Amino acid sequence: MPSIAAIRSSPTSIDVSSPQKRRLRSNSALLDEQICKSPPLKASSSPLKSKSPRRCVEDSPNRSRTDVDKGVVSDNLTKMRKSPKKKLLDVFLDKPIWNPTDSEQLSAVKEALHVSTAPSTIVCREDEQKRIVDFCKQSVEQEKAGSLYICGCPGTGKSLSMENVKGSLAVWAKETGGQLPEILAVNCTSLSSTSEIFNKILGKIQPHKKLNARSSSLRQLQQLGSQNQQTPGMKMMLVIADELDYLITKDRVVLHDLFMLTTLPFSRIILIGIANAIDLADRFLPKLQSLNCKPMVVSFRAYSMDQIIIILKQRLMALPYTVFQPQALELCARKVAAASGDMRKALGICRGAIEMLETELRDSTCTSTFSSMVRVDHMAIALSRAYKSPIVDTIQSLPQHQQIVLCSTVKLFRRGKKDTTIGELNKSYIDVCKSTLIPPVGIMELSCMCRVLGDQGILKLGQSRDDKLRRVTLQIDEADIIFALQGIRFFRNCLQ
Ligand SMILES: Nc1ncnc2c1ncn2[C@@H]1O[C@H](COP(=O)(O)OP(=O)(O)OP(=O)(O)O)[C@@H](O)[C@H]1O
Ligand SMILES: [Mg+2]
Repeated sequence: MPSIAAIRSSPTSIDVSSPQKRRLRSNSALLDEQICKSPPLKASSSPLKSKSPRRCVEDSPNRSRTDVDKGVVSDNLTKMRKSPKKKLLDVFLDKPIWNPTDSEQLSAVKEALHVSTAPSTIVCREDEQKRIVDFCKQSVEQEKAGSLYICGCPGTGKSLSMENVKGSLAVWAKETGGQLPEILAVNCTSLSSTSEIFNKILGKIQPHKKLNARSSSLRQLQQLGSQNQQTPGMKMMLVIADELDYLITKDRVVLHDLFMLTTLPFSRIILIGIANAIDLADRFLPKLQSLNCKPMVVSFRAYSMDQIIIILKQRLMALPYTVFQPQALELCARKVAAASGDMRKALGICRGAIEMLETELRDSTCTSTFSSMVRVDHMAIALSRAYKSPIVDTIQSLPQHQQIVLCSTVKLFRRGKKDTTIGELNKSYIDVCKSTLIPPVGIMELSCMCRVLGDQGILKLGQSRDDKLRRVTLQIDEADIIFALQGIRFFRNCLQ
């Protein structure tokens, strides 16, 4: 498994053939203004249990009002005045610090950060939602069948946004007197057989009709779409097929037949398919392409660091106290954005960091307010648990003096240097030892340690007759060292 730094620097190492792993980098505009105005979080009363790592679309909590209909979509894109990082400091420092030993506060915070708690406003996805809603409105108004494909990596807000889209359509239909289509939301992973999706669609179109045992549901749907059987007031049908990856890998014929239903001359089906694969139409639906019925595509890009900060901020905004040190949230956002841009992961890591604080408080007698906040070191431990990498493991299991050598190297290189000598490194090493009240070893021993670190591929040593003048360079990313050592209390101050 690549290290965090490696993941960041080599996006091409991600397997493009696997629908699960495709990833887009988001650079969509930020919506800070909106967060500051957003109403308090409405926490769902009962956190949902996952059936699998992927949740059913039906499981997602509903919201009564929608962002798209509140008209907050594009206005906010240009309104950002300060960077989310700076605002993070402003917002968090004017509230009292929470009390993690108060069980009510603890559960309120955990709930606010739970994946199944619906945010009151879905920030950073306004554009995508607007495009989906517009597609649905247009199809309904023109009574035109068609398909739309939503793609994006795990945890990028696809299913969450679809819940909001459904709400937006209901508001639109109510306000304009337009017709709300019949909506069928199917999570493909919950189908007992792939073709069951056709039974579900047929059952929704003809709820009172018994299934014809002699003709398959697909056949009957194909007949309905081929013949003009329209009756006045007949509704359009919106089929939302989430976790479509299941069909892509299991049964491409069904996937093909499903999309083809929207191309039949009298079809009234608006199909929205949601999956991780980016090039569904090109790779799996060539016939659709040749018929010129390629689905419209809306891609959900991986969340950037700034977007993750905005979303976390929005979720924590309603709490009347400060839970996290701003730097801790920033560290989480930076690492998650570099690795995957997965919001589910970011929320899980924040909850993990709270648990680190809980453990610390249980084991200690200190009750100062500082110790009550979730700090960078709590976050670093939660992160390293979430993204275990061999290099981080190696650094964390080195003897203490070798870790001090690495910490000293990072400190030296922070001043813009790319390499140093054993002599200079020795000075930096002695400084760190002094500041931490640890007796330093002599330069001969330090030189020995550098050789050991060189053998492990962590440092690179140049040649020189005088040991002091041997050049030292880092063979691994500084970020991995900081990441690995930040979780160790002893190094926290050295690295700050
Ligand atoms: N913009 C956002 N604002 C607030 N929370 C978000 C946002 N995006 C994602 N989340 C949180 O992350 C969780 C995961 O998002 P969601 O289920 O929509 O991901 P997905 O793109 O459908 O992923 P998958 O491909 O794995 O199904 C949501 O339940 C929600 O808690
Ligand atoms: Mg989903």
